[in-house]
Amino acid sequence: MDTAAIYDRYAGTWFAGHSPVYAGWAAHVAATPKLAALIATLPPAKRQPNLVFAATRFLGCPDADAATWGAFLHERWPEVRTVVLGHRTQTNEPRRCATLLPALGLIAADTGKPLALIEVGPSAGLCLLPDRYSYEYDGGTRLGAGTPLLRCATTGDPPLPEALPAVASRTGVDVNPLDGTDPLTVRWLEALVWPGQDERLATLRAALATLEGLGTDRPHLVTGDLNERVADLVSAVPPTHTAVVFHSAVLAYLPPRERARFAATMATLDCRWISNENFVLDASGATVPSVHGDRFTLALDGRPVAYTGQHGATLDWFG
Ligand SMILES: C[S@@+](CC[C@H](N)C(=O)[O-])C[C@H]1O[C@@H](n2cnc3c(N)ncnc32)[C@H](O)[C@@H]1O
Repeated sequence: MDTAAIYDRYAGTWFAGHSPVYAGWAAHVAATPKLAALIATLPPAKRQPNLVFAATRFLGCPDADAATWGAFLHERWPEVRTVVLGHRTQTNEPRRCATLLPALGLIAADTGKPLALIEVGPSAGLCLLPDRYSYEYDGGTRLGAGTPLLRCATTGDPPLPEALPAVASRTGVDVNPLDGTDPLTVRWLEALVWPGQDERLATLRAALATLEGLGTDRPHLVTGDLNERVADLVSAVPPTHTAVVFHSAVLAYLPPRERARFAATMATLDCRWISNENFVLDASGATVPSVHGDRFTLALDGRPVAYTGQHGATLDWFG
């Protein structure tokens, strides 16, 4: 897909109704060949709107109208390019824990053992702390006592647990694990939150404070490719715990061949598996596109159970 078409799709699908500023910027790129041509000089994996937009904001571009942003991109292109090439889209969204929690609760109830969480593609590891946050579903049901409070609107009567599952260990493997206590890294994570989403930003900051407060109990994040490391991480889990491999907003960054390899590996591992992506990997490694535009599909052990808001604000359970 050419650059203008990618930006047009993002404007209409992922940003529409969520961030008017980003929808405007993306539509502006789609309609301005000069800007699309600049972005097209980046390697294909670096042309993603989230990444280019975050780089401009990281460099101080205000959340302004599209023409102002376009002028900034054009004038500051060498710096933008450097930031884009030196960073990845590593948005870490703790609110996604609100959509993962029912699946974690089902696994905990099923096995009766504490969970050994293994996140592939954890960024700074904020989704590895589901038992450290608190939750409010549909303005009513409350769970947990930690911060931040994660609010989620549901349909379909999801199986909310009565208590947060016990977590025995938290491990992650990322090609570029982030240190959520490093000020420059925090600035980048904040730049990745879309303009106008103040509650998301506050939630991110509160989760980073929780992470920092854990001290030596912070998640253990290793550097590596998920396909190279996941089997070893699962085999290190003792039989007294239940290994749970999970991922959200990660597999889209893998080429189809690597996704198929991951599905094949998962079929051989002694663990439970939660996937929260904009498609479903089936057991053969094929990807089934999500039919719900700006939502992800939550799958438990390869079986779709819910559609989830891309940043965890909604959960539509059908499993
Ligand atoms: C968009 S972030 C999502 C972070 C987190 N899962 C969440 O939902 O908040 C995607 C993460 O996947 C990581 N990633 C991408 N490809 C990977 C690979 N092949 N192996 C391990 N990590 C990978 C990136 O470095 C990044 O940190």
